[in-house]
Amino acid sequence: MSRLGKIDVVSIDDLDTSEIERVFALADGFAEGLESGGQITTASGLIMATLFYEPSTRTRLSFESAMHRLGGAVISSADMQASSAAKGESLADTVRVVSGYADLIVLRHPHDGAARVAADYAACPVLNAGDGSREHPTQTLCDLYILRKKKGHLKGLTVALCGDLKFGRTVHSLIYALARFGANIVAVPTAGMDVPDYVLQRLASERNYSFSTVTMDELKTLAGGLDALYLTPSAPHQMALFTGDEATRKIPSVEPPLALDAFYITRLQKERMTSKEINAGEYVRFDARALKTSRTQEAVVMHPLPRTGELAYELDSDPRAVYFEQAAAGVPVRMALIAWLIEKSKAAQVRARTVAEPIRFKSEAPPRCANPNCITRFEGAYLRPRFKMARSADPAILALKCDFCERELKIEYVGHARSHRFYRFDENLQGYVRQWIEEGSLAVFESVKQAEEGGYEPYKRGPQREMMRSEEVAHAIESLADQLIAEMPEMTGVSIVGVISRGAILALRLRDLIERKTGVRAPCAALDVYSPAEAVHPIDGTDNFDVEGRTIILVDDVINSGWTVQRAMATIWQRGRPAAAKLAVLIDRGHRAVPIRPNYVGKNIPTSRTERVQVRLAPSSDDSKAVSHDRVMIYSIVEPLKETEAAR
Ligand code: NCD
Repeated sequence: MSRLGKIDVVSIDDLDTSEIERVFALADGFAEGLESGGQITTASGLIMATLFYEPSTRTRLSFESAMHRLGGAVISSADMQASSAAKGESLADTVRVVSGYADLIVLRHPHDGAARVAADYAACPVLNAGDGSREHPTQTLCDLYILRKKKGHLKGLTVALCGDLKFGRTVHSLIYALARFGANIVAVPTAGMDVPDYVLQRLASERNYSFSTVTMDELKTLAGGLDALYLTPSAPHQMALFTGDEATRKIPSVEPPLALDAFYITRLQKERMTSKEINAGEYVRFDARALKTSRTQEAVVMHPLPRTGELAYELDSDPRAVYFEQAAAGVPVRMALIAWLIEKSKAAQVRARTVAEPIRFKSEAPPRCANPNCITRFEGAYLRPRFKMARSADPAILALKCDFCERELKIEYVGHARSHRFYRFDENLQGYVRQWIEEGSLAVFESVKQAEEGGYEPYKRGPQREMMRSEEVAHAIESLADQLIAEMPEMTGVSIVGVISRGAILALRLRDLIERKTGVRAPCAALDVYSPAEAVHPIDGTDNFDVEGRTIILVDDVINSGWTVQRAMATIWQRGRPAAAKLAVLIDRGHRAVPIRPNYVGKNIPTSRTERVQVRLAPSSDDSKAVSHDRVMIYSIVEPLKETEAAR
């Protein structure tokens, strides 16, 4: 059991301003103590565990050095690939176990929101040493500590943040902190690498703070002919220098003249990008010329390191280059943070984290976070997505905010659990949705199909027509099986994946039919596009479902927007490389605006956008009585909901 109070530092905002000041005061003391070489025993008897799921030099070694210097002990897994994580252990289990061995966990992880998960499950305090592209609060403590030391204060300083402001987690924590201390920020992102919306929204809603974003050229003008920020294209043949003269065009909302107190340069966070993003454009290159103008000559140059070409080595000998001091501050500042933790635990001042209740959803599948790097997309089913209402400026938009990675999710369809009706969200529903959240009866859906799968009916439904009866459905399924066999008479190498729920039923019925006709029983799996964990699982007599090198037949009852098929294909490709993938659908509505054309079709039923095709299928074709319930119905949706009538 941890001897420390449960004080987690997941975000820089987990420390209030006076606590940061206290950490700095302690750091001053430790910096002196380190120089004089005295014995420090602040942490004697305590054990810190470092869990690093991503490479690190500075953060890990300075944390470990800090704990040793404090007289504490360190345990660590040299490489998390060599730990049980490689065997598939969940983050929650790992930190629960490690809490039994250590008094404090320092975690670095590639996924956004991982530190929040670890903090929720570990019995001991968790310090975030960088989670995906989200935050890196202890780096910010080092950054602020050095900036204040150099400038004497933080309030009123103007700091230019340059480079990859999208994925740079150190930048995000620094922005929150600079806002808190009343500094001015000028963001100078390279193209496409702007500060993400969720960071801006948090600043606006929690601190009523905003800042200007300028291009490199605009900054040059603002800083008075600043002559040395130039761009290097990543493709060498485009090499071009922009050296200031052309920068007389429009001035953004910052008032010139602008004296800069600091440049904070960052590297391109390649490991978080697709190759397309990496090759997309030019990246900042910063050299000594940037410090030559009257408005920049007082500026210090900061960088969290490592640098990868964006910062010229010629700057290193300039006293204004403080990046190695930032790195060196890692030890006293992290000593101070641990000492503060001990101090706070002793004072028994540990306050419970006040968190707003997450929304309880009444649907079978709560929405999933839209951020592909969110921790909820990688951990097992134990980690339920968790959302709060996002404060949206536009009342016509319903947005939720992921409790782990903070990314917003726009909701298009909402449902009421008692009436089992769903609606396309619009402004008139605001009040109702709030009420449903309070009652715990809100359901949200990503698509009409998902709502229908959940047993919800549209609020307004037009007349319903029967399009196919059971014999016709049976005939269509048979025709699908025949088409498949005609093209692949051997049927070996073929595996069938059905989209849950009706696609999976159809897949099994197809598999049985094919077996009857050819004697070959194809492996069968069900795929759930709404549940990323264990999304593909073998069904009905299939033990192992392999994707690699197989011909995959993806089966669904109807394709509507093509969204389901796209997501299903992506999920299949995540598991391996099939030799080929084909799509079989019972009903083809006519490809309207659908990017995917089914290869095998049971029946064509051209339908308009406002019409819905609903399929009812008995689980197995063995039971002829059940099969007589097979139906294809068509109805139209009358939308959008105009009147403010309640959903009872
Ligand atoms: C940073 C990180 O890992 O986020 N490095 C660090 O901790 N000093 C910045 C980076 O890797 O670019």
